[in-house]
Amino acid sequence: MTNDIKKIIVSAKEIDNICERLGKEITNDYQGKKPLFVGLLKGCQPFMSDLLKYVDLYCEIDYMKVSSYSGTESTGNIIIKNDISTPLNGKDVIIVDDIVDTGKTTKYIQDLFFLRKANSVKVCTLLDKPEGRIVDINVDYVGGFVPNEFVVGYGLDYNESYRNMPYIGVLKEEIYKK
Ligand code: IMP
Ligand code: MG
Repeated sequence: MTNDIKKIIVSAKEIDNICERLGKEITNDYQGKKPLFVGLLKGCQPFMSDLLKYVDLYCEIDYMKVSSYSGTESTGNIIIKNDISTPLNGKDVIIVDDIVDTGKTTKYIQDLFFLRKANSVKVCTLLDKPEGRIVDINVDYVGGFVPNEFVVGYGLDYNESYRNMPYIGVLKEEIYKK
C-alpha cells in the first residue's frame, strides 16, 4: 500500500502535534461548557480519537455518516447515510472533519445543525484545501493547509483504500490511471 505514495505531506509526528495544539485550544475555548463533538464518518475516525485525547473537558461524542465524493471528485450531492442520535437543542456543537475542500459538506451539516436549534456550531478540520472552496464557510479550527492535490491516509481515502495509513501523502499518478 505505502508503495503507492509519491510523497508524504503530513507526517505522523506532525499529526500528533496538530491534535495536541487543537485539543488544547478547544479545551481553553470551551471552559465551563460541555460540547458535543460530531465526527463526520468515515474520514474523521483517526483524527477524532487522537484529537479527543487532548481535550480536557466533559463532552459528548456522536457520529454522522455522510458522503459526497466519488473517486477524486466531489459530486456536491451530500447524502446522510447515518444521522446522529443526540438532540441538538441548546448544544454547543463541534463538527470534526478530515478535510474541507469545496466546503459543501461542512456548510450543509452546519446549516442543518442550526435548523435543529444548536446553540453554536463550530468546525474543526484536520486539513483545509482553500483553493478548492466553492461555498463560503468559516472553519474555526484548522490542523494544516494542503495544496489542491488529492491526498490520502489517516482517514482520507481513494476509493475506500489508504484510510489506515498513519500519515498523509499524495498518490502516484499511475494509481489513478489504473
Ligand atoms: P467538500 O464537501 O468538497 O468540502 O468535501 C469534503 C469531503 O470530501 C471530505 O470530508 C473528504 O471525505 C473528501 N475529500 C476532499 N478532498 C479530499 C482529498 O484530497 N482526499 C480524500 N478525500 C477528500
Ligand atoms: Mg472520502
